[in-house]
Amino acid sequence: MTPRRLDNDRSAVAAIHRQQQAEPSLYVHIPFCETKCPYCDFNSYRVAGRDVDGYLSALAREMDQRGVPRNPPTLFLGGGTPTVVEPDTLARYLDDILGRIQPDPTREFTVEANPGSLTREKIAVLKERGVTRLSLGAQSFFDHHLATLGRVHAARDIEEAYAWARDGGIPEVNLDFIYAVPKMTLREWNETLARAVSWAPDHLSCYALTFEPGTEFFTKRRAGRMRSIDEGLELAMFRLTHRRLDHAGYKRYEISNFAPAGYECKHNLGYWRNRPYAGFGAGAVSYLDGERLSNERGLARYATSVGEHGHAVVEREALTTEDAAREMVVLGLRTQHGVDLAEVDARYGISTRALFQQTIDKLVAGDLITDTDRLRLARRGWRLADGISAEFV
Ligand SMILES: C[S@@+](CC[C@H](N)C(=O)[O-])C[C@H]1O[C@@H](n2cnc3c(N)ncnc32)[C@H](O)[C@@H]1O
Ligand code: SF4
Repeated sequence: MTPRRLDNDRSAVAAIHRQQQAEPSLYVHIPFCETKCPYCDFNSYRVAGRDVDGYLSALAREMDQRGVPRNPPTLFLGGGTPTVVEPDTLARYLDDILGRIQPDPTREFTVEANPGSLTREKIAVLKERGVTRLSLGAQSFFDHHLATLGRVHAARDIEEAYAWARDGGIPEVNLDFIYAVPKMTLREWNETLARAVSWAPDHLSCYALTFEPGTEFFTKRRAGRMRSIDEGLELAMFRLTHRRLDHAGYKRYEISNFAPAGYECKHNLGYWRNRPYAGFGAGAVSYLDGERLSNERGLARYATSVGEHGHAVVEREALTTEDAAREMVVLGLRTQHGVDLAEVDARYGISTRALFQQTIDKLVAGDLITDTDRLRLARRGWRLADGISAEFV
């Protein structure tokens, strides 16, 4: 393909996206945490000694200069730990964001929080500003696993924060957990799931611990000072999660996400359905008009860049129709809903069958996906989802 043809193809993706575009969703990144967890490779930094006000001013300027979608279908405030700051700072930057969009009380508005970072007062600030969903990083109900994970909260803090969120009238609460932590037993994970379900949260996210390059855990494991749990045990935990939660009415709608029907996270579903989103803040990513834009990750460089240029985009990737179709298939396959190839073809004007039929046949023959009205992961495929995605890329 010649560069000229590629350019045409890319602008075709942009035109397709503009045509079909509902307003993009809005993501705002708050990169501060009380401490940096040793397994975490998100763009987050210990808050002590950071210029929080300087960051929030840069964020407001970026939103003004680039322009925030006025009527985003969903709003997600993530991090980092958006609730790590004092209540008045929390109120100030929530108002900064909300003042730039049209009010809509029915819009899903999620804020991530750590149990130790919450107070009744902060919950009241969130509630007053229309937060509909609190995503609480519980991670474990066992203090020794919380200690392994380097978390600053204890199990009783989760209970307290959860009760405050419920008493404070936050409509939906999600709990995040991490399993396959070194030395965790199947019995402990079973107890964690049982306890979580007994609280009746609206949503559960359960992630297997991953050792990400660049993290303290990664270095420790490489040096032989930490061991992953046995692969067979991790698989048993993965299977137990599905069985236990399904039985309790939480359907797996994505590899690591479970909810009763109607309580899925709409913001994340938007990502998996390849819908557009606008991301603001250090390291935030946007997907707009078929183009992926990534912001500067470092806090000082982010603020300087916004000051000088009104934005901090350091990487732009224009997708071809084939790239965009491939992504839609890979992302859709992560979900229970799967992906309708006819819909991908209609959107991007290409034949996904021509591109992927051989791969599809191989995966169907291996019992990893099913190919009926839609393409979906088969029962055996869920735990191998990353490898399956790689086949399409
Ligand atoms: C960006 S964090 C933000 C939430 C909040 N700061 C917290 O830590 O509770 C989102 C979630 O990603 C998960 N996570 C982060 N790093 C992980 C890793 N290496 N392995 C598995 N899950 C991870 C955790 O469950 C965490 O709640
Ligand atoms: S896991 Fe959450 S609290 Fe820990 S460093 Fe990452 S973003 Fe911060």
